[in-house]
Amino acid sequence: MTPEFVTVKVQRGAEGENLRMEEFDVPYRDGMSVLDALMWIRTHVDSSLAIRYSCINANACKECMMRIEGRTQYACTARLETGGATIEPLHNKRLIRDLVTDIVPPKETLGNLLG
Ligand code: FES
Repeated sequence: MTPEFVTVKVQRGAEGENLRMEEFDVPYRDGMSVLDALMWIRTHVDSSLAIRYSCINANACKECMMRIEGRTQYACTARLETGGATIEPLHNKRLIRDLVTDIVPPKETLGNLLG
C-alpha cells in the first residue's frame, strides 16, 4: 500500500554551528526522486533549506550529490522509498550549509583563476 506521506530526515546547519537532524513529512507519489522531496520541503515548509541542483533529472550537472541512506548518490536520480530517507551532506567536502558542500575543485576557485 502506498503511503500518503513519508518522513524525510535532513541534516541542517553550517560548519561551526549546532548540526541537527530535522524531520519533514512529505506527500509521496510513486517514482518521485529525493530531489523532488527536498524541493517540496523548500517550497511548502522551509524556504531556508539549502540544496544545490541544476539539471534536475539528468545526472548531468552532478551538483545534487549528497548522502542518502548513508550512500553518496545524486538526489535527482535517487528514488524516494516508501520508508522515507535520511539525507546528509557529503562527508568528504567542506560543509557550507544544510546539504550544500564545497564541491568546486581547488584549482577552479576564483582566487586561483585570477591569481
Ligand atoms: S541535478 Fe544535475 S545531476 Fe542531479
